[in-house]
Amino acid sequence: PLHEEVQRRIGQNRINELFEDFFRRVPHGSTSSPMRYVYFLHYKVTSLNERRNTFFTRLVAFRKGTMEEKDYSFRFIIDGKEIEAKEGQSVLEAALAANVFIPHLCSHPDLEAKGGCRLCSVEIEGGSGAVPACETMAKDGMRLRVSGPEAEKVRKMAMELILATHPADCTGCPKYGRCELQSMYQYMGVSPERWRKKSRSTANDDSNPLISHLFTRCVRCGRCIRACQDLRGVKVLDYIKTDAGVRAGIPEGKS
Ligand code: FES
Repeated sequence: PLHEEVQRRIGQNRINELFEDFFRRVPHGSTSSPMRYVYFLHYKVTSLNERRNTFFTRLVAFRKGTMEEKDYSFRFIIDGKEIEAKEGQSVLEAALAANVFIPHLCSHPDLEAKGGCRLCSVEIEGGSGAVPACETMAKDGMRLRVSGPEAEKVRKMAMELILATHPADCTGCPKYGRCELQSMYQYMGVSPERWRKKSRSTANDDSNPLISHLFTRCVRCGRCIRACQDLRGVKVLDYIKTDAGVRAGIPEGKS
């Protein structure tokens, strides 16, 4: 049978590793068919007793929220600095936890990373181009550069494009001094001027008595949409096309 052939070829240890990986991904909602296949493989190649001790015990613990945190810590290098990380942590999460700052905007600790803003771009030694740190899993021994030329280029360009259509009147903004975007572009030393177009003039939406939506200031990070879809499970917010471009909102027909 196929599962015996796979077991013979890739070995029990590798199947166990994939199985552990499966469990780490489940909380993030990834139940893609390859992962389901890993579960199936593990099921097929372990004895009933082993299954009782691994899968069922852990599933019950997972459901009760008491799954033990296994210590899979390892080290990797960012710009010459050694960082300690745990299996399942992204490069961005591990770096921030170790007080190594990588600019970021669209990621949020409670949301699955989508790699939208590209401010967190980093270079992996031996790789080509820049990759988003929020979507790249930290790996034992990997070496990265935050300030490599490729990463800097992508990050600066991404920030300039965000700022290109953003209103320039920071001092008149109610978020002045408490704004992530403002802190981020000042930290990066990016000037909005190179790409400055006319600011978008999407009308505010004041239809809600409690929340005023100032769409000209929206940077389309998508956090509100992901929170609505993934955390609340309501799925009422989405990207919608308007004459003034794409913005977050409630598509027609939803309420
Ligand atoms: Fe990684 Fe936005 S924070 S792409």
